[in-house]
Amino acid sequence: MSRLLVCPPEYFQIDYEINPWMRRENAVVPSRAVSQWQTLVQVLEQDVGVGVERMQPVPGLPDLVFTANAGVVAGHRVVISRFRYPERRREEVYFAQWFREHGYEVLTLEESLYFEGAGDLLGFPDTWFGGYRQRSDIRSFPKLSEIFQREIIPLELIDGRFYHLDTCFCPLSGGELLYVPSAFDAYGLAAIAQRIPEEQRLAVPEDEAIRFACNAVCVGKHIVIPAGCPRTMRLVESRGYRTHEVELGEFMKSGGAAKCLTLALD
Ligand code: ARG
Repeated sequence: MSRLLVCPPEYFQIDYEINPWMRRENAVVPSRAVSQWQTLVQVLEQDVGVGVERMQPVPGLPDLVFTANAGVVAGHRVVISRFRYPERRREEVYFAQWFREHGYEVLTLEESLYFEGAGDLLGFPDTWFGGYRQRSDIRSFPKLSEIFQREIIPLELIDGRFYHLDTCFCPLSGGELLYVPSAFDAYGLAAIAQRIPEEQRLAVPEDEAIRFACNAVCVGKHIVIPAGCPRTMRLVESRGYRTHEVELGEFMKSGGAAKCLTLALD
């Protein structure tokens, strides 16, 4: 059974603005955030059937809920993130502590390399893709490639709204890719096209891209997707996936949705 790491949104709010979605005056409604998050976890556990590990939330760290940014896990090893913004850098020790307490070998990159975990590094079993420029540093990928013994293809993120790769790029279990073509430059699009055949590349409509259509969790034939993306749902259903839509509007105020709220542990 696959397992995901999550963190309850007890202290989730908009305390600072580090991406174009975040506005301090657009306050989170705590009760709504809690019920949206609980529904997401319930769908994952009951409908999708994954195991969910809950870490302890920490007061003063509102974005700790976005566990996709904890690091990247492969087997019993994890490389912990080094956040670009000081606001999130304080999360690193809590993520590292969770992994240490759960028996993982905890690695870090050298001090000067920004790397934001599974938010910027994701892919298919053999080939991984790394999003850079907005948050992660392109120079982190050769090191990660060496650590994990996987090829990592760097993709520059050119649109500030799609600041992490998982906001515009979602590999599916059957080898298809859901993505937002306008978030990449011509070089990135060519690199994607070289690896993923045309019939497997599924572009999401622009109006659903900005409702985080790509920030979906795919486990086997199940896809958990933020509400408001009906055309993307039909698109993946036509490829044999079963969709589960979850309202995540409170988290979108912070620039995140389903995928950002989870981290694959195996
Ligand atoms: N407010 C958070 C940030 O800007 C949102 C992170 C979303 N995470 C993700 N994997 N896309 O860092």
